[in-house]
Amino acid sequence: MQVPASEIIDIAPEGRQAQKSTKYDFMVVSNRLPVDRFPSDGGDNAAEGWRRSPGGLVTALAPIMTKTDGAWVGWHGAPDEPLEPFSHSGMDLVPVDLSTDDVELYYEGFSNATLWPLYHDVIAPPEFHRTWWDSYRRVNRRFADAVIQHADHGATVWVQDYQLQLVPSMLRQARPDLRIGFFNHIPFPPPEIFAQLPWRQAIIEGLLGADLVGFQRPSDAANFMRSARRFIGASVKQQQIHVKSPDGRISHIARAQAFPISIAVDQISELAERPDIIERARQIRQDLGNPKTILLGVDRLDYTKGIPHRLKAFEELLKEGRLTVEDATLIQVASPSRERVRQYRLLREEIEGTVGHINGSYDTMQNTAVRYLHHSYPIEEMVALYLAADVMLVTALRDGMNLVAKEYVTARTNNTGALVLSEFTGAADQLKQALLMNPHDIDGLKNTIMRAVHLPPNESRRRMKSMRKQILDHDVDHWSAEFLSALAETVVRDDT
Ligand code: F6P
Repeated sequence: MQVPASEIIDIAPEGRQAQKSTKYDFMVVSNRLPVDRFPSDGGDNAAEGWRRSPGGLVTALAPIMTKTDGAWVGWHGAPDEPLEPFSHSGMDLVPVDLSTDDVELYYEGFSNATLWPLYHDVIAPPEFHRTWWDSYRRVNRRFADAVIQHADHGATVWVQDYQLQLVPSMLRQARPDLRIGFFNHIPFPPPEIFAQLPWRQAIIEGLLGADLVGFQRPSDAANFMRSARRFIGASVKQQQIHVKSPDGRISHIARAQAFPISIAVDQISELAERPDIIERARQIRQDLGNPKTILLGVDRLDYTKGIPHRLKAFEELLKEGRLTVEDATLIQVASPSRERVRQYRLLREEIEGTVGHINGSYDTMQNTAVRYLHHSYPIEEMVALYLAADVMLVTALRDGMNLVAKEYVTARTNNTGALVLSEFTGAADQLKQALLMNPHDIDGLKNTIMRAVHLPPNESRRRMKSMRKQILDHDVDHWSAEFLSALAETVVRDDT
């Protein structure tokens, strides 16, 4: 596998090594570790090493982990390669090995072809296979076992996301001394949709092993509580769910609550003021022929992100002459994601076909309509792109939060630019001064894009200022501190 140099962050783990026997009083558990291992291909590109893992979860948790003495349990991205605990970028990491079969059944299958579409409004049809479910249970058990081995008595364990929904109850059964939090980074569906899942009861019971179950939006927490009531008959009062043990007694009270996630504001703000990054932004504009307007989309290449809708709107605007390639260029960064899952492969073909079609129809020798980049980039390059872009397009059909929207606003330190934001993102709950729209409504999307392109500077400043204040007051440290202090207030009944 050829890995672009921009994605490689290091070649070797640090000298400081986490030990097999080390115990921790704070542990984060997520499907992926913050770094992915890429193996040698045995050929000319013989280097092997580590690169940053994709996605917002890592962006959100890495700052907390570098500031604590805890450990992070997760998969290191390479199948069939058992690794000992190690340290990297100031974090103690405990790798969980996945076999090729686990990757296919638990990760690509149950996590990303059953749960992912089910939890995102069934935009793609979820598939239900018993072999996938069996693997999901087995792999969740392995993650739980890694925690059980490394957690000190009375430790706090924070489990992350939909891939590991059974881990909280597995931990509670084996280690009632632990304080267990869970955070779902993606939406939680309404019970009418969740009902389709053949294993709905086991998932609810798995999550209810936690003392605190966190969600992005209040509506996600409400959906979860409705499902707990409907599918396991739980008694729910306000945000508290009374959880019964198999003998029918109340074992504990689990709390469900919204904690909207955010970004490392200081890091983005500092990068946005760095002269070399400002210069890079200028160079990006120049390389594109200095168009009047640069529009930008930055997404994992995922069908939830509404990339085809965005391209359709942009193409129609070019066709109608409301935009021209001399005046406007769309940069679309689509970082590779879950490439072995069928829906993702089909989407990539569709998007690349559409981009080819648009560019073939509208490009000139000097100007391009869409600059499409199927890569992931380091944060420095992302901030340069945010600075170069006059209009940011976030057209997700459903998104737990969307941290790109928050990063763009944070990078606009001079309060210029415009954010076009889908109503169906968690971020829309907080960024009310964005130009909000429904991405399914292509005419509405086109009109909103044109409004953003022509937004008067004073209106742009007013909107940006208000959004920046919201994000500056609620950065990722605020998010984790709120979650962890709510978790610390929960009552752990330790009879051991
Ligand atoms: O929150 C969404 C999420 O699935 C995270 O759990 C994950 O880190 C990120 O998106 C990237 O996805 P993947 O690990 O499947 O590449």
